[in-house]
Amino acid sequence: MRHLLDLCKRRGFLFQSAEIHGGLRGAYDYGPLGVELKRNVSQEWWNSMVYGRSDVVGIDTAIITPPAVLKTSGHVDQFTDEMVDSRLSMDRFRPDKAPALKMDDRNRIPITAPDKDTAKKWEHLIRTQFAKGAIITRSGKEIQLQVDRLEKDRIVLAKDPASDNNAMPASDSSTLNIPYNGYVDPNSNSPFLTESRPFNLMFKTYLDPIDPTDKIITATLEAQQTSSDLTATRQLVDKTLYPSLTYLRPETAQGVFINYMTVQRSHPHLRIPFGIAQIGKSFRNEIRLEHAIFRTPEFEQMELEYFVAPWQAEEQFTSWRKSRIDWWKTYARNHDHIRERPHAQDELAHYSKGCVDVEYLFPWGWGEVEGIANRSDFDLDKHAEATGIKLQYTDAVLMQERQKREKETGQKETRVEVLDRERYTPHVVESSCGLNRAMLALMLDAMVVVDEDGQEVPFNIEDEGEDSKSSSNRKGLRTVMKLHPRLAPIKVAVMPLVSNNSDLVAICTDITNHLRQELTVNVALEMQSTTIGKRYYRMDEIGTPWCITVDYDTPKDGSVTLRQRDTGEQKRVPISEVLTLVQNGLRI
Ligand code: GAP
Repeated sequence: MRHLLDLCKRRGFLFQSAEIHGGLRGAYDYGPLGVELKRNVSQEWWNSMVYGRSDVVGIDTAIITPPAVLKTSGHVDQFTDEMVDSRLSMDRFRPDKAPALKMDDRNRIPITAPDKDTAKKWEHLIRTQFAKGAIITRSGKEIQLQVDRLEKDRIVLAKDPASDNNAMPASDSSTLNIPYNGYVDPNSNSPFLTESRPFNLMFKTYLDPIDPTDKIITATLEAQQTSSDLTATRQLVDKTLYPSLTYLRPETAQGVFINYMTVQRSHPHLRIPFGIAQIGKSFRNEIRLEHAIFRTPEFEQMELEYFVAPWQAEEQFTSWRKSRIDWWKTYARNHDHIRERPHAQDELAHYSKGCVDVEYLFPWGWGEVEGIANRSDFDLDKHAEATGIKLQYTDAVLMQERQKREKETGQKETRVEVLDRERYTPHVVESSCGLNRAMLALMLDAMVVVDEDGQEVPFNIEDEGEDSKSSSNRKGLRTVMKLHPRLAPIKVAVMPLVSNNSDLVAICTDITNHLRQELTVNVALEMQSTTIGKRYYRMDEIGTPWCITVDYDTPKDGSVTLRQRDTGEQKRVPISEVLTLVQNGLRI
């Protein structure tokens, strides 16, 4: 993972966001190659889910969502994680009750527990809840936390450089955070932590020209004139802010459900089963941010909501499971690194009747990359109930057949089982894939280290010492990113044997322009003046499937060298055949 993150930064896939300002935890920017890879993954998804079928259409809905939608969907009340927080965050109005936290001259915070067993418990709590890789030492009932810095409301712990937990490519890789609110309560059972409580994962924002802080101050002062009760104050603040309250959507799916009717009306040809697909950003105030882009507060989802008749739900759920696993196996090389994991009953989301995760075997273990869920009629039902608008499906063909039968027999059809098949609230089978996670999984899956002969070798970054940047250059080892050709950020690199020969450069430019026009893909004109071998290796490292070299024979015989990334094979081909060869390679 560290090797990949180093490569991502060095070659321009992924950067820590706002790095020059010290970075922001969990925020990443996609560089020129990262943006191409991400677009390719999402385009492949869209091709398979929308363009490849006649029963799915796309949509792009708003991110800023009114509370009514998310209250109805259950997210306001139930989209929670368990959180522990600073005991004294509760006591923020009574700071006199706790002494301020102090760092010693070696940047350590000494904490004394009442006894040895409690100290052990505290150490375990800190390591498991917040800071697995942090430097914590314990001796008897004394604990020392090595601190990077103290901020107004958090301790930023120093991270043990030997730990790769929470690996990130940039500055905040050395720090981990514990919220503490500036004080430690000497009477507490733990140094920082309260009992766990549910914490809503949605980000709130306010559509209001008036700064919400001003409103909070006014409401707080007003409430405290009559009572110092915190619950009453909070209620008044919430009431004051509510008219302008909105949320950043935590999933793209709700945008689809609230548009179920508008899509159906505008596309009457859509007959059940049919789907609505969406790719877009979602936001979750994740308590734990981890493994670079694996879990971040801002991420992209590729979601399909597939509307089915109630009696089709089980069969469609099974069929989508298969088709999504097949999709993953098209792009991942290591099929034994992909598995399905059915959710246990107590793991199911509030809307879900059944769910299977698609998991990938990451360096730290199996991790979810996609969820396939049977959402039943939960969402449409709830939105219909809240709005009074019927969100149903009418099967026009069945209805016409019944009306015809009624005409022929002169008798009205009243059987419930017939009418229920004609009009019903559709059930939903959902496939929900994280784009950023998919990208991370597919990069890890593609990355191999090869020796001088191009043979894959098992590679463990720890064996190579700390200097991961140069490790792959040692012992003749180098990295090849064996991405599926359609995912590769650059499809073809066209290069002159020497970059200062204008005749060769002119031919390269012609070939590049021709490929760009015909294929509409990213073709690079590679003009670096290093050796051709080094240029090939640089292209291997970023996953470019084909390199084309124009040399001194090209002006004479109209042929070029075509090099394959995965085999290193080079063959002489006429320029006129290059397009077809690449086209065929992209069809795989
Ligand atoms: N609409 C259903 C839904 O949102 P989910 O299992 O909560 O289901 C679906 O999320 C996918 O979105 C996950 O499998 C994962 O790939 C991605 N995802 C969820 N939270 C994420 C986060 N904080 N960072 C990156 N990806 C995330």
